Amino acid sequence: MIKIGSHTLSNPLVAAPLAGISNSAYRRIMHAFGIGLVVTEMTSAKAITYGNQKTLKMLEITPDEGLVSLQLFGAEKAALVEAVRVVNDHSNASVIDLNAGCPVPKVVDSDAGAALLKDPEKAYALLSAMVQASNKPVTVKIRTGWNDALMTGVEMAQLAEKAGVAMIAVHGRTRAQKYLGNASLDAIKHIKEAVSLPVLGNGDVKTPEDAAAMLEVTGVDGVMIGRGLLGNPWLISQTLDYLQTGTYDPCVSVADRFRVLRQHATYLEALKGEKIAVLEMRAQASHYVKELPHASAFRKGLMPLQSMARVHAHIDDYEADLTRRL
Ligand SMILES: Cc1cc2nc3c(=O)[nH]c(=O)nc-3n(C[C@H](O)[C@H](O)[C@H](O)COP(=O)(O)O)c2cc1C
Repeated sequence: MIKIGSHTLSNPLVAAPLAGISNSAYRRIMHAFGIGLVVTEMTSAKAITYGNQKTLKMLEITPDEGLVSLQLFGAEKAALVEAVRVVNDHSNASVIDLNAGCPVPKVVDSDAGAALLKDPEKAYALLSAMVQASNKPVTVKIRTGWNDALMTGVEMAQLAEKAGVAMIAVHGRTRAQKYLGNASLDAIKHIKEAVSLPVLGNGDVKTPEDAAAMLEVTGVDGVMIGRGLLGNPWLISQTLDYLQTGTYDPCVSVADRFRVLRQHATYLEALKGEKIAVLEMRAQASHYVKELPHASAFRKGLMPLQSMARVHAHIDDYEADLTRRL
């Protein structure tokens, strides 16, 4: 059982932070499928301190999202501390996470995200200050190192523990690897063995078997899943079944798949309004149907649509077509 401060996770599965994706709509779906904890999209500490309206909206968490960790990114102590205070006072998040793994140049060039892997002492100072300022448990998400020559994951994890962090998530790649190659279970294991606080293993978990292997090979306390959950929240219930009983039902009915897809669309429209929801559903709907026949024609048909009514009609037509064929 993973404990983060006063919170006990109901199971060892955590939905990874996904910029542009793990918004409230996504989190509601993950919670409905039984995820133990879900992490928000990364949120700029600076933008929070500037009172940026779009960013402040990202702090809103609804009661049907379950346990939520709000992820911050930043490189300056003052901004991170101020952002933590705003989150303390204005967000229902249960946990605050620091992003120390994002590899994208825009983030790294501002010394945030994975850039912190180059300077573990700085990460320590930031995390210590956040822990001091926060009335919620603070966690950190790291990679195994900056590159092969600078494998700072173990040092980062040990310093995070010393700073009073409640849990660490480790993506088993270096910053240099970005998303290439495979996540290293060995490197995750190494980090898990170096600390005594709960550790989540992350990277390339696409099936219940992958999740079980992550737990078994690395000894981590929980598994964080990102891309594997896109359009596939059933992976949560399947993995929970597999971990408990050794078997799971791999089949998802067409009706169920489309029910959840429509639910996602409805939540997204309520969250972002019709115009943005229509645009974001192009990617999200594509994930839900990726393994179905004629998915590429469905995807193509979505692109020119400008209203949610049209999007729903397109989904209805595709479902009817598939049901006729099956
Ligand atoms: C589209 C996308 C957005 C991401 N956004 C974030 C983010 O905001 N914060 C973060 O720490 N990691 C982010 N990540 C990294 C994931 O959380 C995760 O570490 C990575 O995808 C590896 O796990 P996976 O193989 O299960 O997807 C993102 C990854 C993707 C593909």
